[in-house]
Amino acid sequence: MNYAEAEKVLRKCGQEHVLAYWKKLGGKEREALLGQIAKIDPKSVRYCQEALAKGAEVPDSSKGRAPKVAVLKGRKLAEAVAVGEKELRAGRVAALLVAGGQGSRLGYDGPKGCYSIGPITGAPLFYFHARKILARTVRYGRTIPFYVMTSEANNEATVRCFEENGYFGLNPDDVFFFTQGMWPGMTKDGKIIMDAPGHVFMSPDGHGGLLAALKRSGALADMKRRGIRSVFFFQVDNPLVEVADPAFIGYHVMEKSEYSLKLCAKREPKEKVGMPMQFGKTFRMVEYTEMTDEQCNRKGRDGRLYFLYGSPAIHVFDRAFLDREASKAMPLHLAFKKIPFVDAKGKVVKPAEPNGYKFEKFIFDVLPNARRAAFLAFDQKDEFSPVKNAEGPDSPATCRADMQAKWRRWLAECGVDCPEGLPLEIDPAYAVDAADIRANGVCLGAE
Ligand code: UD1
Repeated sequence: MNYAEAEKVLRKCGQEHVLAYWKKLGGKEREALLGQIAKIDPKSVRYCQEALAKGAEVPDSSKGRAPKVAVLKGRKLAEAVAVGEKELRAGRVAALLVAGGQGSRLGYDGPKGCYSIGPITGAPLFYFHARKILARTVRYGRTIPFYVMTSEANNEATVRCFEENGYFGLNPDDVFFFTQGMWPGMTKDGKIIMDAPGHVFMSPDGHGGLLAALKRSGALADMKRRGIRSVFFFQVDNPLVEVADPAFIGYHVMEKSEYSLKLCAKREPKEKVGMPMQFGKTFRMVEYTEMTDEQCNRKGRDGRLYFLYGSPAIHVFDRAFLDREASKAMPLHLAFKKIPFVDAKGKVVKPAEPNGYKFEKFIFDVLPNARRAAFLAFDQKDEFSPVKNAEGPDSPATCRADMQAKWRRWLAECGVDCPEGLPLEIDPAYAVDAADIRANGVCLGAE
């Protein structure tokens, strides 16, 4: 792209000020700025401007009802596991990880997936995810391709982390990295924010950017070519997640669902998790910020919370559903943030108060479009302990404690008593459940 072409693109969406400092820029800066402008789609800019004009819509959740949530036990559980195992043995299951987030609350600079979480080995979050995929690949004798969404900011470091760790034992041909899109930040009146004279402020387009990125990168086509039907979706911050869990996949298939969600009982009425609610025949995710106190505390006939089940963002999608949704426009969510900007004199200012908007898409906004959806309950302590904050709840310390408590429960099931203070770590490729430990035997002690 040259200067004239850049000017034309910007004029189409009223953003000519992006070139305001052109005369002061050096060759490299000019080249980089033209590269950024080349990626700006005037249609997307107008879409952001429309979202700004509409303002942050807080949808009315007062008519929402709690969805029917299945709790699988005994024969029903065995049936779902058998169906899920059949899918895995047929090679029809893929794993899809969203890892493009910035991890700013954790205060960690690199990709969150590289964060060291193993209680003894210090292995990164990616290790636990990848080794679970490896374990199930070995157990079922078929590849589970692993699709990892990164962002421009962390793609290189993510790929390096996999390379340096030998892809954690996975075949590199079955690991597919793809990057999500970026949106420019904007002022209240819809002007793109420059965070340096030659640089547009950009931020990742949210985990909902996944759909467009899957399509653009060829990942969806790759899934189709491999005969994938069920796509297991999970977030990078939760090393307890049972990746490609046969019971969940089996339930999804049995229910002929297009979008299935694992849900867990909230730990407290105002826990900060999204809640799927039913509105007539469709379902929609309602964020905790959109719920009233009365809704959060409402009790059902059984005396438990009426809106009991929250979403830890563990989903199974039908591949064909993702395909169908990938070409549709998704709603935008606005976040009002402190964004560095260039003032009239060309100086970079770091504002003390929020001054601009970031735009994000959320993957669960496609829930109302699913012809059939299914909800499955599970025990939070077994599968959900995210690393979000540096300290306090949902921190590395609580997560490591929860990982070890889970392994301790598996060992206890096998008759091995492991005292609480004793550090413990189990490689998922060695055991993804108590049955694996029973089959493989237990060897205590550090290497
Ligand atoms: C999210 C969910 C919330 C759910 C909770 C469970 C939203 C708005 N809320 O909250 O309903 O109960 O997780 O832990 O998502 N990501 C990208 N690209 C982006 C932004 C995020 O790939 O542009 C990825 C992150 O790397 C992470 C995941 O999405 O794996 C979640 O992002 P995060 O911002 O941490 O979500 P929460 O606000 O904690």
